[in-house]
Amino acid sequence: MSSKRSSQQYVEGMSMLEVLRRVRRLRLFEPSSLGVIAGFFLVTAFVICTFFYLDYRELAGTYRFSGQSQSSWSQQKTGSYVHRVEFLGENGGGCDLFQGNWVWDQSYPLYQSKDCNFIDGGFRCSENGRPDLSYTKWRWQPKDCNLPRFNATMMLEKLRGKRLVFAGDSIGRNQWESLLCMLSSGVPNKESIYEVNGRPITKHKGFLVFRFKDFNCTVEYYRAPFLVLQSRPPPGTSGNITTTLKLDEMDWNSLKWRDADVLVLNTGHWWNYEKTIRGGCYFQEGKEVKLEMKVEEAYKKSIETVLNWIQTTVNPRKTQVFFSTYAPVHFRGGDWRKGGSCHLETLPEVGSSLVPNDNWSQFKIANSLFLTHTNTSQVKLKILNVTQMTAQRKDGHSSIYYLGTAPTHRQDCSHWCLPGVPDTWNELLYALFLKYETSYT
Ligand SMILES: *[C@@H]1O[C@H](CO)[C@@H](O)[C@H](O)[C@H]1NC(C)=O
Ligand SMILES: *[C@@H]1O[C@H](CO)[C@@H](O)[C@H](O)[C@H]1NC(C)=O
Ligand SMILES: *[C@@H]1O[C@H](CO)[C@@H](O)[C@H](O)[C@H]1NC(C)=O
Ligand SMILES: *[C@@H]1O[C@H](CO)[C@@H](O)[C@H](O)[C@H]1NC(C)=O
Ligand SMILES: *[C@@H]1O[C@H](CO)[C@@H](O)[C@H](O)[C@H]1NC(C)=O
Ligand SMILES: *[C@@H]1O[C@H](CO)[C@@H](O)[C@H](O)[C@H]1NC(C)=O
Repeated sequence: MSSKRSSQQYVEGMSMLEVLRRVRRLRLFEPSSLGVIAGFFLVTAFVICTFFYLDYRELAGTYRFSGQSQSSWSQQKTGSYVHRVEFLGENGGGCDLFQGNWVWDQSYPLYQSKDCNFIDGGFRCSENGRPDLSYTKWRWQPKDCNLPRFNATMMLEKLRGKRLVFAGDSIGRNQWESLLCMLSSGVPNKESIYEVNGRPITKHKGFLVFRFKDFNCTVEYYRAPFLVLQSRPPPGTSGNITTTLKLDEMDWNSLKWRDADVLVLNTGHWWNYEKTIRGGCYFQEGKEVKLEMKVEEAYKKSIETVLNWIQTTVNPRKTQVFFSTYAPVHFRGGDWRKGGSCHLETLPEVGSSLVPNDNWSQFKIANSLFLTHTNTSQVKLKILNVTQMTAQRKDGHSSIYYLGTAPTHRQDCSHWCLPGVPDTWNELLYALFLKYETSYT
């Protein structure tokens, strides 16, 4: 592992001009047309501007680490070594995996979408015509330690005889499909991986259970965009209330999540006016429909219900529970209905704390609850705190490449191309899962 690392450390210190050269090489290997070339020069101009800014930060970083009083472009080119502990090593325990940077890594991605049968068409950006590949080449580098390189065999060995369950909205599904691809890349006989009810992976409600026969384990996804129960309103309520969200009850399928060995939850994207009240879905507590309740308050109550369920119903000796935090969307100039776009983004917003133009209220609400609960109670919950790192990846969305090529006024700037950003969330999941497995066995 460590010999691999050093070459990656080298890449990390690589000059941004070098990154540029590699981005360009990557593009020139692709079938090109005049349009692509023209686009390329525009992008390059933009890239150079961005990287001049970046390099300033990068230099500042080098200065801090090496203690040298001067840095130069040539030094940047030769690379600088940064020594960090291994997260899985003895001293890696205290490292905050979620503080760090995206670094260019030629060895990525971890798989190719054409080799993976477990991806919805909507996430197959390259196959749907996305011309650039640079969005697949970024690796997450925590500030104070190194992540283990993902090893599918290792993870499957640790999952032998177990169930890994994702429950949440379509962003959770995005992450689940990514993990199926990452894991299956280590299995030569693809026939040995199948949905237990023979269902196809295409979008639908309900759940999907994939079995890895040779490892006697399953990797499952349950669609539950709110995590709490959405069902019929109580009898006698007004006709324009079509459904209610029972903020104090878990989704019915939670019976199946409860006994998972690894459980990964997420929710957030459906907690807005458009996807609830506007469609006649109101909030309910006990037997009472709360017509006046705001979405933010309802969201807060639902997270409390989830935390309470974890504490009272999930056996912490059997189940490792993770919660993936809100993955920011990147619509420029309005949401998807108003023609918001992200299809021209080809680079991360590295080194900028620019917050996308939504308020992240879902993130803030959940975050404060997580901080107090994981601190003060027995809730055994690990937060996959991906919000900040994901905010920088405006280049990673399906945009117009979710369906052949979609019209530019109907872009998907909330879901993610695969391979892509969700792979990183799973590398973090892998690291935390392995850390736990090794410290308890
Ligand atoms: C991955 O893990 C397996 C099983 O633990 C091990 O045999 C193999 O050497 C590992 N592969 C790499 C590239 O480290
Ligand atoms: C497969 O795993 C289950 C537990 O999930 C266990 O009960 C069963 O014995 C295992 N089967 C084999 C063949 O190892
Ligand atoms: C139901 O619809 C009627 C008329 O469209 C409206 O006056 C009333 O306020 C609505 N009730 C609720 C609970 O939204
Ligand atoms: C963001 O927050 C501000 C002030 O808190 C509020 O006025 C605005 O409506 C919010 N915007 C969105 C999109 O929620
Ligand atoms: C966590 O608990 C410690 C003491 O146990 C306290 O000092 C700290 O303020 C708490 N943090 C939060 C975010 O509640
Ligand atoms: C997640 O990370 C952000 C910033 O990186 C931090 O402000 C927040 O408190 C973290 N949340 C949790 C639950 O650890």
